Amino acid sequence: MATRSSYADADAVGGSDATPGSDAALSAELFRDAVEQAPSALLIVDADGRIVLANAEALAVFGYGRDELVGRSVELLVPTRFAGDHVYSRDGYFMKPQPRPMGHSRDLYATRKDGSEFPVEIGLHLIDPGGHRMVLAAVVDITERIRLQQTLETAVQDKSTLLNEVYHRVKNNLQVIVSMLNLQAASSEDARLREALNESVDRVRAMVLTHQLLYERNDDSRVATIDLGEYLGRLTQQLLSAYRAKGNDVGLTLTQPEERVRLDLDRSIPCGLVVNELVTNAFKHAFPGGRRRGEVAVTLDGAAADEIVLSVADDGIGLPPGFDFENTRSLGLQLVPLLVDQLLGDLTIGTAPGAHFTVRFPRRPLRRSSP
Ligand SMILES: Nc1ncnc2c1ncn2[C@@H]1O[C@H](COP(=O)(O)OP(=O)(O)O)[C@@H](O)[C@H]1O
Ligand SMILES: [Mg+2]
Repeated sequence: MATRSSYADADAVGGSDATPGSDAALSAELFRDAVEQAPSALLIVDADGRIVLANAEALAVFGYGRDELVGRSVELLVPTRFAGDHVYSRDGYFMKPQPRPMGHSRDLYATRKDGSEFPVEIGLHLIDPGGHRMVLAAVVDITERIRLQQTLETAVQDKSTLLNEVYHRVKNNLQVIVSMLNLQAASSEDARLREALNESVDRVRAMVLTHQLLYERNDDSRVATIDLGEYLGRLTQQLLSAYRAKGNDVGLTLTQPEERVRLDLDRSIPCGLVVNELVTNAFKHAFPGGRRRGEVAVTLDGAAADEIVLSVADDGIGLPPGFDFENTRSLGLQLVPLLVDQLLGDLTIGTAPGAHFTVRFPRRPLRRSSP
């Protein structure tokens, strides 16, 4: 016990035999003060697990007087259910000492004098004063950090629940609009009005689908983007089944790269609406009279690093001769350039054979420099 209690003196830990007033005595005093006043709880424990030194912060954190700690087993500070494991890992540490944080892979707890527990993070370092191997342990009470972390996790969880709820509600509201337009179309005597209403239904359904996908996604909470290939797959399928339900026989293929192409939320709806207009037009105008079986090809190309290329092409009759895209007065092709602008993209049109439309837009929503 004599040797152990002498470790309680910081001079002994420092291995100093300095005479008072010498440089060595001064540095020993500095060392003692630094350890004692350090803002973290510091403990020095010998190879048998005895506490050799506890600084002021350690006494405050654990609620013990110095005499109650020094000389006692360090397991006094470990919750009983972990004490056995602690002895084991302490022995292991002395066999193979490396400076390391304890509790890297699991939660660690310490016990105060009053029996209450608190979560800790512990840094260990082997010291060797005067040939006595000991471990210096810096103990940090992480109660507040864990509380903050939990608050943040709950807040993020709440936000994403709320966001999902919003997607769901927007989707439901849009579906109400779809039902109203359908009812109106069904009760209309005028074929042209019916068709106009049906086309509006398709537009709103293209928007419903983005919200549907946002609501369904469970993978990435990182950024608000949608998987463009998946969106276009479902959108074209939706348009095709509505078209076929009317007894038409047209094929549609969607070609897309293996690697996912993600598009920011802001531009997902304009992008869906462009494809909606162009595919609807191909169905409606490219194969008049339904006399022959046609093909519509939608291609999504994400090969370029900075741009996405999307095209809709058919093998039908082609655009009318003298077709002037700039001066079209019908809604669909007036909408397309506006939507392409929202995509911050460019549109090129070709015809004969068939009609083909190609939209190129930047992968990221960078502002286009003003002309
Ligand atoms: N894929 C196509 N093949 C042939 N003609 C087309 C095609 N797409 C558009 N058009 C022509 O362009 C015109 C304008 O299209 P749009 O503005 O969508 O109006 P709408 O579809 O209401 O007629 C169509 O009426 C049609 O003559
Ligand atoms: Mg149209």
